[in-house]
Amino acid sequence: MTAVQSIAVMTSGGDSQGMNAAVRAVVRSALFHGLKVFGIQRGYQGLLNDDLREMDLRSVGDIIQRGGTILQTARCKEFTTPEGQQKGAEVLRTRGIDGLVVIGGDGSYQGANKLSKLGIKTMGLPGTIDNDIPFTDVTIGFDTSVNIVVDAINKIRDTMSSHERTSIVEVMGRHCGDIALYAGLASGAETILVPEVPFDLVEVADRMKANFAKGKRHSIIVVAEGAAKGGDVSEQISEISGMDSRVTVLGHIQRGGTPTAADRILASRLGDFAVRQLMAGESGKACGVVNGQLTTTDIDLVVNTKKPFDMEMYELALRLSQ
Ligand code: ADP
Ligand code: F6P
Repeated sequence: MTAVQSIAVMTSGGDSQGMNAAVRAVVRSALFHGLKVFGIQRGYQGLLNDDLREMDLRSVGDIIQRGGTILQTARCKEFTTPEGQQKGAEVLRTRGIDGLVVIGGDGSYQGANKLSKLGIKTMGLPGTIDNDIPFTDVTIGFDTSVNIVVDAINKIRDTMSSHERTSIVEVMGRHCGDIALYAGLASGAETILVPEVPFDLVEVADRMKANFAKGKRHSIIVVAEGAAKGGDVSEQISEISGMDSRVTVLGHIQRGGTPTAADRILASRLGDFAVRQLMAGESGKACGVVNGQLTTTDIDLVVNTKKPFDMEMYELALRLSQ
């Protein structure tokens, strides 16, 4: 016995590497269990436009290794209104769809929460490079994004060392500092500026000077976009220290490219799990991985909780970058 017979899947908000692997897992798991499964094109916008197609095994072939999302994604203002949400629920009911998997970030989760309150059985999967979703250790795309940043910093470090310069690298993450933190630790950055920890650029400049005096040949400052603009940090550091610096804003390259194995595995586990949860009658939940275990949390709680920042990791990164 299963609580759902026919489900739909969408990707929504900013895309992330591994979304395709998650769509593949949802579709193949649903078909394996004898369910009908529909793909909704362009997130909530596609839902409102009734832009759905039935998916088969081959429709998700050759995508596990691809960045982006075959279902495409969108940001949809109309769906943030109660009328838009009613309309979305109606489209699903008219098509006889009784379960929905939403792959996206916190905004997309807000939408899923609203649909759940309108009686649609929903499951959220954390699809965002930002790693800003609470009740999961990681989000789909975060690992790939961090690896892209680390690769970029390796290259920047080569040329900074040759010229004995300081480099400011601005990374994404919206209001969350995790990309900066993890990539900063993994690349040995001297300074990591995140929105969660107050900072003083005079201190940063002093540490930079002290590092050069200790024999360091470069200084890498990773700044999360939620903390400051790379250009502003560069200007102020140069003004305070009188030293030359260069800025790199990594931008959307952080959101593209082939997903790492870790992201593909995470997406595959979560996609299959979401389908099994819907079949078991669960609804209004966000799926995650905590200490390696698949978990569900009420989506209402998830959207009303701020993800805690890992201060221990932040302090570790500082200790090791002297
Ligand atoms: P992400 O999911 O990556 O955080 P957004 O914040 O842009 O991306 O959200 C994606 C979409 O989710 C929005 O365009 C909108 O359609 C829907 N959404 C966001 N917030 C809400 C809300 N409070 N209520 C209903 N739908 C929402
Ligand atoms: O949420 C993912 C993200 O890439 C954020 O890190 C960033 O702030 C934002 O989306 C950029 O959005 P856009 O693609 O609309 O410029």
